[in-house]
Parts: sequence; C-alpha cells; structure tokens
Amino acid sequence: MTPELAFQRCIDPGCSATVPVDSTQFTCPRCGGLMDVAYDWPRLPVPKSLRDFEAKWSLRSDPLCVSGVWRFIELLPFAAASQVLTIGEGQTILQRADAVVRFVGLNDGRLYLQYEGLNPSGSFKDNGMTAAFTLARKLGRKRVACASTGNTSASLALYASMTVCDDGRPMQSVVFIGSGKIAYGKLSQALDYGALTLQIDGDFDACLRRVREVSEPLSIYLMNSINPFRLEGQKSIMYRVLEGLGWQVPDWIVVPGGNLGNCSAFGKAFLELRELGLVNKVPRLAVINAAGANTLYELYTKQGLRWNAGRYNRDCVQAYLKHLDDTNYKPCTVASAIEISRPVSLPKALRALEAMNNGVVRQVTDEMILEHRAMVAKTGFGCEPASAASVAGLHLLLQEQVVSPGETVVCILTGHELKDPDATVKYHTGLDMKAATIPPARPVHGKYANRPIRVPDDVRAICKALGVDIDKTPLAGLPCR
Ligand code: F0G
Repeated sequence: MTPELAFQRCIDPGCSATVPVDSTQFTCPRCGGLMDVAYDWPRLPVPKSLRDFEAKWSLRSDPLCVSGVWRFIELLPFAAASQVLTIGEGQTILQRADAVVRFVGLNDGRLYLQYEGLNPSGSFKDNGMTAAFTLARKLGRKRVACASTGNTSASLALYASMTVCDDGRPMQSVVFIGSGKIAYGKLSQALDYGALTLQIDGDFDACLRRVREVSEPLSIYLMNSINPFRLEGQKSIMYRVLEGLGWQVPDWIVVPGGNLGNCSAFGKAFLELRELGLVNKVPRLAVINAAGANTLYELYTKQGLRWNAGRYNRDCVQAYLKHLDDTNYKPCTVASAIEISRPVSLPKALRALEAMNNGVVRQVTDEMILEHRAMVAKTGFGCEPASAASVAGLHLLLQEQVVSPGETVVCILTGHELKDPDATVKYHTGLDMKAATIPPARPVHGKYANRPIRVPDDVRAICKALGVDIDKTPLAGLPCR
C-alpha cells in the first residue's frame, strides 16, 4: 500500500484541505475544523461485494483475519498489513434479542444487540485503539495519551502495555481522568496495565482540553477520538453488524452518544459503503444522550441544528457552549461513560445524522437507563449503564412511533457490565456496596431489582429462604446447624 493512497482531509466540503496521514495536528490547518481519514478509492483494491469478506472467515491462523477490525482492512487502508497492531479485537457478536423485544414493543426477530463488551478491554474502544496504535507505532511515537471517562483509558493502557516501540520498550500511556465519576472497573484496568494516571480537578471536558493542549508540544500522540484514525477502526462495528445480518442493512442503528466519536464513525462507514457501491441502502441513525449530558439533543432536536452539507450553524453551537460556561453547567448522569457536555465530534455526528437518513437524537433519564440495563441483563446481556441508553432510547422511539414494530433494529451495547459493578449492585440493593459482605437490604425501587438476602448460618433458615418447608424434606430430622 503506498501511503499517498490515504491522507487526512477536512470534513468541511467547502474547505477539504488535505494533509498527510502522519500529520498529528488533527484539526484542519486552513479552517480549524475536524479531519477525516480519506482514501483514493479508485486506486485501491476494494472488494466488489461485501460477501467477498467471507473468504477470510476460514483463515484463523492469520491475526488480521481474526481481528474483527482488520478483516475489513480494504475498507480502512491507511496502513499496510505488515504495520498493523492487533490483539484480536472486534470478535464481538450480533445477537438476536427476542427476550428484549417484548419489553420494548418490537416484533419478534426484529431486535439485535451488537455486544461490544466482548472486546479485549471490555468496550468498543478497542476497535479504534488498534487503528490509532497502528499509526502511533508507524510514526515511532513512544508515548500516547487520552482524556477519558474510563473506557478509552482502559483500552489505551491495554494496547500500550502490549506495544513494543523501536527501542524494545513498551509504549508509555498517559491517561487524564476527571475528578468526577469513573467506574472502578475502568480505573482498575488503567492502573493495572501501567498507565501514568493523572486525575485532574475538573470533568471530562476539562481533561480533554488539557490533553489536547500538552500532547503535541510534548511529542505525545493523542488518542482521543479527535484523532481520526480511532474512528477508522470503529467503522468496523458497522461492517460486523452487516456481516451478522448476512450483509442485509437494518432499518435502524441505535447508539449512545457521549463524545460522539462512535456515531460519527458509523456515519462515515455508510457514507463510504454507499460511495463504493457496497450497499444499496443506509440505516437510519438514532443517537441517545443521557438527559444529564444532552448537548447533542439540545442542539439537534430542540434547536434544529443540522449539518446542512457542512454549512451548519456554528454560531448556534458557540452560543450553546457559552451558555454552558455562563451557567457553570456540569453534566451529571449515572451513565458516567457519557457524562460529556462538549462533544468533540459534534460536527461529524451532525454529518452522520444527515448521511444516515436524517437520523434522530433523543435523551433518556438515569432511571430509564438503569431499568433498561437491568432488563437487558436479565435476558443475558450484561452491559454498563451508558450502553443501555441505546435500548432505553429505542423503547422511547417505539412509544413515539418513530420506530415501528416491524422494523429491524440494531442497538449497540458499547461496554461490558463488569466495567461498573457498583452501579449494578446499587440497583439491586439500594446501597453503595464496596465491601464483600451483604448489608441488610434497603428498600429498592428498580423493577428488576434482585435483592440479596442475608441468612443466618442455619439449615432451617436457609430452607426458609429457599421457600422450602424443612419438615417435608430429608433434612427434617437433622439437628440444626
Ligand atoms: N458507551 C461507552 C461504554 C463509552 O465508554 C462511551 C464513551 C460511549 C458509549 C460514548 O461513545 O464518546 O464515541 O459518543 N466513552 C469515552 C471514554 C468518552 O473516555 O471512555 P462516544
């Protein structure tokens, strides 16, 4: 692969400035806008049909074919196969979720969950990290950094610990976390994998501002989703969805929105698939914000902000962000992963919403998130709160009759349940429970709450807890205890 076949290009169609792949500025040198990774497709060997990718299913000895990202390398051809850094990410499943359809009101067989919690670090971030690390190593970088609500830092730290630099030493990772919420599962990963972990006095938005400020002057490669190579990897989530559906395009993709990198990647995936003639239709996109961190909802749904072929109303965005500053607004949601009020990929998300059939944006409350998380878990899919925003959002869209019961819907479950066990235990017990003992139960309100029961160390009491009359069992004659 010759490098000039891939480059970076400003996303504003009125600007379209280009820079080489190895530029690390990540904003347009001409207008300051966001950058895409772009390709000279006519000169690249793109498959004639998505079915051609099936040839790779049998090549289990080739790590590039095992990776759910790199088996689609022809659709992210910014690096040669020999340069790819993979740890087997993207081996995730698209699961038909008939048990969930009954709760949300879709017809049987119409709902699929794309379970990204199965990635090596437990979230969808690994799809993007493998791509960005491929470039970081190619550029000879020795330090990488990100700001994070938790999952990006876990993924970054994991990939860094497995990346050997030219000098034979592991890549060093630096993570900036806010002083607000970070789920312990995620923090424990960053610490375990050896990241230099800096807790900043401020929220995610403050961390992102700082990491952007210091990275380039200190020769640190920035790994947040403003780095367009991250999004190249995340496009593969959509390829796997299509793969799971036998290359049929669903009617809807529903995804939680935080910093808006993921939905942006999905939009780019479909823009390109359409350009390449590899799909004949595009699904409609639904992005779901938490009500406590709802910038996209406010701008897109309430204020009617649209991409408008790149001529979106920048004053409207600036005024909204200024209003957040003036009112000292701090996002707040139980879905800590998406507790973000200044989403960096906002323009790309607007583009994605336009490209994916004039998509919709909704907000869901913490209560809706927690109830849907518990409901999904009860059917066998453990996900963290932010992920369940997608299912809660779908439920809302069905109630609003925006989605109809006969349509095919894919909800993206972005992160594993074990990322945030505290949220789960609190839902079921009503308590913050960091200790190993089960405290006396408190009243809980969750519809699916499954309270643990404290039982004395006594056979009779255990039988009672099991709903069994001990006198009608072979245990009857046994002495107590
Ligand atoms: N779901 C989970 C589990 C996440 O960790 C994130 C983002 C999102 C959804 C939202 O995705 O930002 O692309 O819109 N987590 C980032 C982090 C911000 O730092 O881990 P997005």
